[in-house]
Amino acid sequence: MIAAMTNVQVCTHPLTQHLLTRIRDYQSPSGDFRRHAGQMSRFLVYEAMRDLSTRAAGVETPMGLAAGVVLTDYIVLAPVLRAGLVLCEAAQELFPNARIYHIGLRRDETTLQAISYYARLPESLPAESRVFILDPMLATGGSATAAISLFAEHGVSTIHLVSFVASPEGIKHVHSQFPEVMITTGAIDDCLNDNGYIVPGLGDAGDRLFGT
Ligand code: PRP
Ligand code: URA
Repeated sequence: MIAAMTNVQVCTHPLTQHLLTRIRDYQSPSGDFRRHAGQMSRFLVYEAMRDLSTRAAGVETPMGLAAGVVLTDYIVLAPVLRAGLVLCEAAQELFPNARIYHIGLRRDETTLQAISYYARLPESLPAESRVFILDPMLATGGSATAAISLFAEHGVSTIHLVSFVASPEGIKHVHSQFPEVMITTGAIDDCLNDNGYIVPGLGDAGDRLFGT
């Protein structure tokens, strides 16, 4: 793990980079893409949760007492539909009791604006919640900022964003509005093309996971 810029973590673990290479490959059949994306999601979620809070809790082993910890955070997973579901599945395996709030956002491919079509958040959330916005692609950053805003409006201040690939433009957009949001990603790519796609990126993540 290296910190490439403030509040950005690029997961440089060889396994993560191997999986990212597999999912970038335009020749990967959809089954392989999904499998590798699922595996990569586990590593990214694991890395994004590196600084979770714990409290000391002893545990009795068959041989005696050992020091241990229990996790204490109120964890919220917020997959951005559709592609964020792959990250959510991996996060859910690690945190079966996490609250999950799905965020439906669709990018208008002409204006590149994020259009909201679903968001079912509770009326209030504990201020100490730790929210993980899950979306493999951080392109213009419109979808990410829209998702983050929903939780910021609820008074939550600890918000993480987990992505497979981020563009420099997207990171800048998110941090211009929410500088405290920690972004964990598999790569920071070169740029966006005229259609708002990340180059070299991996194409349309939702389509590659679920079909056009
Ligand atoms: C993709 C992706 C992000 C968004 C990123 O979703 O999963 O949510 O685009 O682009 P942005 O940073 O420019 O907002 P899309 O809108 O294609 O929806 P889908 O996952 O349902 O295909
Ligand atoms: N959405 C994607 O799925 N891929 C991109 O490169 C940009 C937005």
